[in-house]
Order: sequence, then structure tokens, then C-alpha cells
Amino acid sequence: MNERKGFVEPKFLEELRQKNEITEVISSYVALDKKGNTHWACCPFHHERTPSFAVNEADQFYHCFGCGVSGDVIKFVREIESTDFMGAVRILAARAKLEVPENNFDSEKAVQAKKKRDSLAAIMLDSARFYRANLYSGDSLADAHLEYISNRQMSPTTVKKFGIGASLDFFGLADYLQDKGYSRADLLDSGVLTESKSGKLIDSQGGRLIFPIINAFDEVVAFGGRLLEKRDFAKYKNTKETMLFNKSKTLYNINLLKKLKRTQPIKEVIIVEGYMDTISLYQAGFENVVASMGTSLTKDQARLVKRYSENILISYDGDFAGQKADLRGLEILKDEHLNVKVVPMPEGLDPDDVAKQGADAYQKCLDAAMPLIDYKIHALERKYDIKKSEEKRQFLSEALKVVKTAESETVKEELLKKLRDKTGITYQSLERDLSSVKKEQKQEMPTPKTTIVEAGQGSDKNVKAARFILAAKLFSATYAQSFDVKSVEFSVDVHRVIAEYIIEREGKGERIRPSELFEILDEDCAEFNEILDLNYGDKLSGEVAERFFADSVKALQREFLEKQIGALKAKIETETDEEKKKQLTVQLSESMLKKKKIR
Ligand code: UTP
Ligand code: MN
Repeated sequence: MNERKGFVEPKFLEELRQKNEITEVISSYVALDKKGNTHWACCPFHHERTPSFAVNEADQFYHCFGCGVSGDVIKFVREIESTDFMGAVRILAARAKLEVPENNFDSEKAVQAKKKRDSLAAIMLDSARFYRANLYSGDSLADAHLEYISNRQMSPTTVKKFGIGASLDFFGLADYLQDKGYSRADLLDSGVLTESKSGKLIDSQGGRLIFPIINAFDEVVAFGGRLLEKRDFAKYKNTKETMLFNKSKTLYNINLLKKLKRTQPIKEVIIVEGYMDTISLYQAGFENVVASMGTSLTKDQARLVKRYSENILISYDGDFAGQKADLRGLEILKDEHLNVKVVPMPEGLDPDDVAKQGADAYQKCLDAAMPLIDYKIHALERKYDIKKSEEKRQFLSEALKVVKTAESETVKEELLKKLRDKTGITYQSLERDLSSVKKEQKQEMPTPKTTIVEAGQGSDKNVKAARFILAAKLFSATYAQSFDVKSVEFSVDVHRVIAEYIIEREGKGERIRPSELFEILDEDCAEFNEILDLNYGDKLSGEVAERFFADSVKALQREFLEKQIGALKAKIETETDEEKKKQLTVQLSESMLKKKKIR
């Protein structure tokens, strides 16, 4: 949805914000109670009885301590009116009697992009309607789809709720969309149609059962299509990646999860693998479910789900345990500081199978959910037959590696006791063996260059330090005033973007307005929200904050110098030119001296 932001001039947005004072706008939706600089209300985005929704007048910002939402006046209207960015701009413009400069676009490219996007969205919506109409059209070709739906025990309500449809052949959709006048280029770019060998446009999903994938703004962005019977093709086929659809940033059923959140607080979100798992759980009454559409969770998906709940239940197929990649996906959730538990499944069954046995059967699985570390041991127990002494040794060796990663001594002790009971080896021996297990280096995920290096990947402490420094600058803490952001380096991409913004503003002698960063950063940027959170509850003022700020600056400077020293040492070792070597050595001693001076 970010593309849309470029179409309104920043100047106009500034005027729009000025004329729409945030407390005035919000108070037209909920009653605000002023205490000091902050206005309080019961959060309109989640259900609560005591107010934890704070509106900060000075910074024109809102934040809910209960559910974690935050933003500026435009974001508020977007969310409360369930509209997109432009929709919110129009509402606020009307309120302030301003004319939206629709034709004052800053670039021709942006106009074209918006047109394209709108056209693709219209194609997706028309296709979804077409597929849905097919299902109950009475066409005999739809009999197989209806029979499949009935075999998989999806109720008519469920079918409607998930917008399930049917592709009956390869030409119906192509004819329908072409008659509607869409251009060939747009139809191909949308992914719903493809070119046959003879150059004809055909339905990419020809003959399949259709699961629309809908984003949090209720836009159909893609389709998942299932074969009705076993064939030599992939069982599921998803729309290719398009301007609207990026599979790694999407979660199936996020649209209904968002609606659910409007009606009740979401204690936990269940993440499953597939479309059918989602649908069956939802139908069995577990509405707090989304699917990762395959197993490997991505950082973007983790950030997306974080907006709905901090507590995650991973409910994958019973046989995923042995697959290392999947467990690594779960580490991503931990890196986002989510509380992760894994729901054990009976061997060979998936959540859909279990839900078919009844809600109780699945509830039993949920009740047995265990922390990730326990699950890893549980998975090893399944993998090895410890009655065989060779396998027992292998089991212990791997299990102790897992125990080594425990976050606390208590957890370590608990796990060791479990291993003792399991294997009959004494606690003392296990403890001794544990101490000789080397800590495994955390395996770096091969992240593509374009994704943001997130907190948790670097050293956690320094990420916190960087957050604090930026928050103090953004919210103009007096002790941070004379600090020059340029004097430290930030290793997290989002931090660098924020630092650049601060440097630019200060360079021009202009006021720093945190809300402006919503124009630059992704609206759901979890890392930015972490920084914003620091501004509440007086975390930025007082002596303790001041000291923490000074320590944070030192920590980052030290980290920077350490990296520099490491790089210089490596260079010196390989340098063959004596003169250059000398220069490098001088630089090295300068850096080491600087590092020493930081105390
Ligand atoms: P599964 O193979 O576990 O399928 O894939 P499932 O959901 O149990 O399917 P049913 O019960 O046989 O209908 C889990 C998810 O992985 C994605 C789909 O999102 C699927 O729901 N997937 C799977 C694909 O995208 N393509 C495939 O070929 C297979
Ligand atoms: Mn299944």
C-alpha cells in the first residue's frame, strides 16, 4: 500500500495534519480523558475496560499499550474507517475543508504505478467474483468442485466466508475479463491469466478449486488453486508474484484475523501451513488462525502477525519436526520477540485432519503446546530410538546442544532433569557433558540484500542502545540535544533510515516530527514501533534515562571501533606492500586508542 503515499504532495500532507489536530479527530470517535500531556481512552482497536490508548498532543501521535498500535492522524483514520491511505486523506481533507490536489502528482511514474495497481486490483476482484459465481452456477462442470467441498466438509457458510470459488475450464475467465475491457498486458501482469503455447490467454488456475488470498485491507491479491484429484502437477498453485502479491509478506486469512481483532482481544495466533488447515480450524471455532502458505516463515510474516498478538502457536504437520529449515523459521519469530509455542501433532496428521475429529481433539493438541526449546527435544525423542545404545548416544549429543541454547539456568535444569528421567543417565554426568558442549554459532539466515536487517540479528544489547538513542533524538530529550547522530554507526537498516531523517532535519534547522517517518518507513514497521514505544511511560526522561543514553552512545561507538579494528587487522595480515602496511598499523593503533578512551 506504500505506493499510494507518493501521490499526495508532502506539503499538502503537512497542511492536512496541521488542520486536523489529532486529539480533535480522535475525540470524534472515542471520548478522551486528558491527564498531563496525554489524552487517554479505551482503545478503539481492541476490546478493553480500562484505558490504555494514549494520544500525545505535542507529537500528534497515538499509541495503545494494550495492543501496540500506534500512528499519526492519517493512520488513525485509515484504521478506524478501514480505508486505505488515500481514503483517509480524503476524509481528513473533507473535514478540514481542503481540496485534495489529485492532479498535482509529483511524478508521472507514480501516476502510472497507481493506475496499474488499481487495474490489477480490479482484475483480481472481478476474477474472485467470477470464480465464486461459477461454483453455484448450476454448470455441471462445477459438480466436481462441489463434491470436493462436501468431501472436505466445508459448510456453505465457510465457503462464503472464505470466498471459495471454482475455475471450470481454461477459457471462461479469459473471455470474461477480456470482455470487460482489461488490457492484455494488465491481464498477464495480474497473474490470473497466462499465455498458452499458441498465444491465447488462458486461466492460470484452469479447473482448480479457488482459495482467494485477501490482504488486511480486504483486497484480493492472489489465488491459491487446488487440484481436485491427484495428478502430475503441483497440488496447489498460487498466483505468481505481482505488484499486489508477495507471498513472503502475506499470511492467508489475515483479513478475517483483522476483523476478529475488532471484536475481541486476540490472546494468541495459531499459525498453520495450509489453506485447508486454516479453513477447518476456523470452522471448528478456532478463528485466530492464519497460514504461512508453506512452511518457511519469513521475517515479514512475523512482523505482520505481531500486530495482532505477541503469542504465537505454531501448528504444523506432525512430520515437520525433522526438517531443520522449519525450526529455523521459528527462530525468526523469536527474533521478533514473540512468545512461541509449538503445538504437537499426531504423527502424519495435519491440523485439518485433527479438526475433522472435532474441536475437542484439536483443543487437546493446543493444550499440549510447548515452548520451542522443549519441542526441539520432543522432536529428537521422536527421531531416535533410545532403547538402542548407539541412537541413545546420538540423541543425547543433539539434545545437549539444544539445552545449551536455553535462556536461563532454570530452563537448563528442567531440561536436564527431563533428559535424566528419559535416559537413566545421572544428572551430574549430563551436567558435565553439557559443560563440554560448545555453544553453536547462530546460523545466519541467508537473507536477501533487500530485506531489512532486523533487531536480534545483531547484538541485542546494541540494538536496544540504538533504539534508545534514536527515540531520545526523535522526541527531543534535552540530554540528547547536543549529540550528533553522525558520530555513531547503525547496523539495522530501519535505524539508518531514521538517523538519516534526523540528520536531514537538523541540517536544515527544522523540527523533528516522528510522524513524518510514516511516510518513509513501512506503516507496519515493527522496529519503528519498538522505538516509538520508548516514548511512553516516561522512559525517556529522568536521570536513569540520561545515563542509559550516555551508555548507549558508548556501546555503539565501541561496537563501531571494534569492527574497524577487526577489519584493519585482517587487512594488515594480507597486505604485502610494506609502506601500506605501516599506514594501516598507524590507523589500527589510533582506533585502539580511541576505543580505550571510551569508558
Ligand atoms: P500441504 O501439502 O501440507 O497441503 O501444503 P494441505 O494444506 O494439507 O493440503 P490438502 O489438505 O492436501 O488440501 C501446505 C500449504 O503449502 C502450500 C499451500 O499453501 C498449502 O496449503 N503449497 C503446498 C503450495 O503452495 N504448493 C504445493 O504444491 C503444495
Ligand atoms: Mn491437509
